[in-house]
Amino acid sequence: MSSNTNSSQELIARIKELENENKQLKSRKKFGLVWEDKPEDVVLQCTENIPVLKEVKNRKIVKDNFTENNLLIEGDNYHALSVLNYTHKGKVDVIYIDPPYNTGSTDWRYNNDYVDSNDQWRHSKWISFIRNRLALAKNLLSESGFIVIAIDHYELFYLGTLCDEVFGENNRTGIVTVVHKPEGRQFSKSINPTNEYYLFYSKNELLGKIKNIPLDEESLQKFDLEDSLGKYRLEEYLRRGGGDVSLRINKPNGWYPIYVNLDNNEISTEKKKGFIEVLPITESGQERTWNTSKETFEENLKNGEVVVVIKENKPVIYRKYREQQIIKTHWVHPKYNATRYGTQLLDKILEKNSFSFPKSLYAVQDSLKITSNINSIVLDFFAGSGTTGHAVLELNKQDGGNRKFILCTNNENKICEEVTYERIKRVIKGYTNKKGEKVEGLGGNLSYYKTDLVNIEKLHKVSDEARIKVTYQAGEMIAVREDTLNEVEKNDWWQIFDGNGKVTAIYFKENKEKLQELISLLEKKKVPTVLYIFGWGKNEYRNEYSTKNIKIEDIPEPILEVYKEINRL
Ligand SMILES: C[S@@+](CC[C@H](N)C(=O)[O-])C[C@H]1O[C@@H](n2cnc3c(N)ncnc32)[C@H](O)[C@@H]1O
Repeated sequence: MSSNTNSSQELIARIKELENENKQLKSRKKFGLVWEDKPEDVVLQCTENIPVLKEVKNRKIVKDNFTENNLLIEGDNYHALSVLNYTHKGKVDVIYIDPPYNTGSTDWRYNNDYVDSNDQWRHSKWISFIRNRLALAKNLLSESGFIVIAIDHYELFYLGTLCDEVFGENNRTGIVTVVHKPEGRQFSKSINPTNEYYLFYSKNELLGKIKNIPLDEESLQKFDLEDSLGKYRLEEYLRRGGGDVSLRINKPNGWYPIYVNLDNNEISTEKKKGFIEVLPITESGQERTWNTSKETFEENLKNGEVVVVIKENKPVIYRKYREQQIIKTHWVHPKYNATRYGTQLLDKILEKNSFSFPKSLYAVQDSLKITSNINSIVLDFFAGSGTTGHAVLELNKQDGGNRKFILCTNNENKICEEVTYERIKRVIKGYTNKKGEKVEGLGGNLSYYKTDLVNIEKLHKVSDEARIKVTYQAGEMIAVREDTLNEVEKNDWWQIFDGNGKVTAIYFKENKEKLQELISLLEKKKVPTVLYIFGWGKNEYRNEYSTKNIKIEDIPEPILEVYKEINRL
């Protein structure tokens, strides 16, 4: 072969190489968050294991037989969220979380090691950690649902970019600054922070509606007038504020005459007989403007939102300012003080100094007030001291709601057992405080679960033995899925749960010789029943065994499918 041919072959090879490089460069992310993904042990565990739930029965709290079932799940929240992807997909209405802020001190571990400020992968680890969990959490939200994430300046920028990617920029409902420490944190080198941030995202901007409920009692009192559309107060239509910008010469379309009939207080933008002209001129004779353009004024007038009041023999034009116009992004009320209504409140409930950074009860409560409705399921998977559970119970008490909560937390420093559980128990049942005063319980129930792992060796190729094992171990997880938490029977062949006027059963075996016996037993109960029948695939028994009361589900294939899907995220 000549040297010429050699060099042209080399050239072609080089061109191909460059073409490939070019292709790779073009397919790279153009905008957004780029970080070094740091594999996490709890995530890797899920390629060989299936997370399930195991109830700790002696920790069940029952105060009211007929209230909703609240859940506390102890374990890593990656595992808890995996389970919830099977039990609660699309069912959660509000997620409130307050993740570790990654301050560089001992507030957070990754793969068992504290991430300190010298760790060069500090942000990458945190983003990997949060992204893995947000991806699972998103699946849980109902179409009209919201997620609220508390964060401070250490990770605000990265979290915001990540949330735009996970939930969509259009679904960014608002970023609220909450003044939780009005005296400021003492940082020698920077401006002392008094606030943190709450990032609000809807699952679907078209369906998620923030409830415009006033958040503080004082402003509520200011809305002392009421008509068929609700409470309002009167605000002058004349624009006094805005400096020079709202002078007649600078804003000519805000200058127009309004006509008023003093006999019957009728208002018009047209000159009519018996009406006098009113212009936006101040007492000192300054020519200013009205608060809106003429078109908007006419629209407001048509909707009954404009009134005239005679003051010192002169007509003054007002607009009805309704209470729903007051949700703002700056939450500054003293009730958001985290020391007072977080730490000190918790210390009072538990009668000891137990947890450093709980949120103010009212900051969480107000977040839920504007995002939930009375039947919402509320999830907090960084539950810490359980403020979110407490806030749900309080809100239900206030508005007679039936909201339920699901709290997940690890048991670092026994927080789940000794703080989260103890707090919720006392808040539900009531307690006597240090001063010997009785504090009334808010009522409610709680079931306590731990996450557990069922080894299946390979998630992408689950053996027959592993399928059987999963079926035997999935009972409590299925009970949670069906909201029938009381186990009534378990033997080698089946397991039965009831609750909420329903029954759930699981038939464990490939051998179906006892299935008819179980079905007859279930039929006698005459309540809506879901029967999970073991099989190798899907839809094997649906037609054969379903009856008027009994709906058939497959097990374990749908569980495995959910976990395989998660593994791809
Ligand atoms: C900042 S605190 C939340 C405080 C809470 N908002 C309150 O008011 O009490 C974060 C909590 O998440 C828990 N946590 C951190 N990583 C976790 C994980 N991977 N799984 C479950 N819980 C975790 C920590 O133990 C800590 O209690």
